[in-house]
Amino acid sequence: MIREFLTALLTPAPQWVKRMEFLNEAIAIEARARRCRDDWAPHQQHTKEAILDAIKACKQHRTVLVVGSGACLDIPLAELGDIFERVLLIDIVHPLKAKRHDWNHVVHISLDITGQMKNLYENPEKLPEMLVPTIYHDSSDIDAVLSVNLASQLPVIPLKYLVHIKPHDVIDLNRFTKNLLLAHFQWLSRFTCATALICDKAWERLDGSGTVIETDDPLFGLISQKPTREWYWEVSPRHETGTEFSRRNRVGYWSNFRLNDSDDLTAGKKMNCS
Ligand SMILES: C[S@@+](CC[C@H](N)C(=O)[O-])C[C@H]1O[C@@H](n2cnc3c(N)ncnc32)[C@H](O)[C@@H]1O
Repeated sequence: MIREFLTALLTPAPQWVKRMEFLNEAIAIEARARRCRDDWAPHQQHTKEAILDAIKACKQHRTVLVVGSGACLDIPLAELGDIFERVLLIDIVHPLKAKRHDWNHVVHISLDITGQMKNLYENPEKLPEMLVPTIYHDSSDIDAVLSVNLASQLPVIPLKYLVHIKPHDVIDLNRFTKNLLLAHFQWLSRFTCATALICDKAWERLDGSGTVIETDDPLFGLISQKPTREWYWEVSPRHETGTEFSRRNRVGYWSNFRLNDSDDLTAGKKMNCS
């Protein structure tokens, strides 16, 4: 607890990022990762292998964007640093530890990839119109964009924030969530370089005998295309939940991800560029 309290004090982040609990959540993820190190290791290894597979499609190796880099536990940072002239690690908040390295060409950028969180923080009574972000779309030296274990997390903190600050109708919250996800997928789809989407495609709850008793679709049915690879992430084993129940995520990796006709784009209303 003291360690986490001090980390929160020392980690630089704008007030609204702290008040929306993005920083506390990042610190909590690091603590869970320590407690579940062995359980999470296969997922982290699968993610690293997926990233190395995705960048095989690069024709040049100038800049790679890694979105949702967080503590970099699932990023093959040394390899990316060797291969690319510039590695841009993007997250709404970067844990202090993730910044401890000696590579000048590996840069941490603190950025809300949805472009909507500050607006939501300041105006919680009005759910934002979702616009497709244009972040880095006009940068000509980007050769790979990797969305890493981020997409399913995008709605989690804003929804928790709204529950505490300003209640909304469930239908409106569902539309907001789908639009938030869809905007991210559309943002990724508009790059012409190599891309990868790595994200949860199912959240499962298991009973003491290991039988799945509940499944949720964190992507709200938006993505139907088959992933290039998939695996399980033992995200909350029994020693973590402290009960006989456990949770695991089914994670998908889509290489060169683009939304296509098989995906359900009817989730929200048509979106424009911001
Ligand atoms: C499950 S973690 C990813 C794990 C991370 N790759 C690692 O190795 O530790 C999800 C990450 O998404 C980030 N995130 C959530 N919402 C974000 C947003 N709107 N913009 C940018 N990053 C966001 C969180 O801060 C967190 O670091």
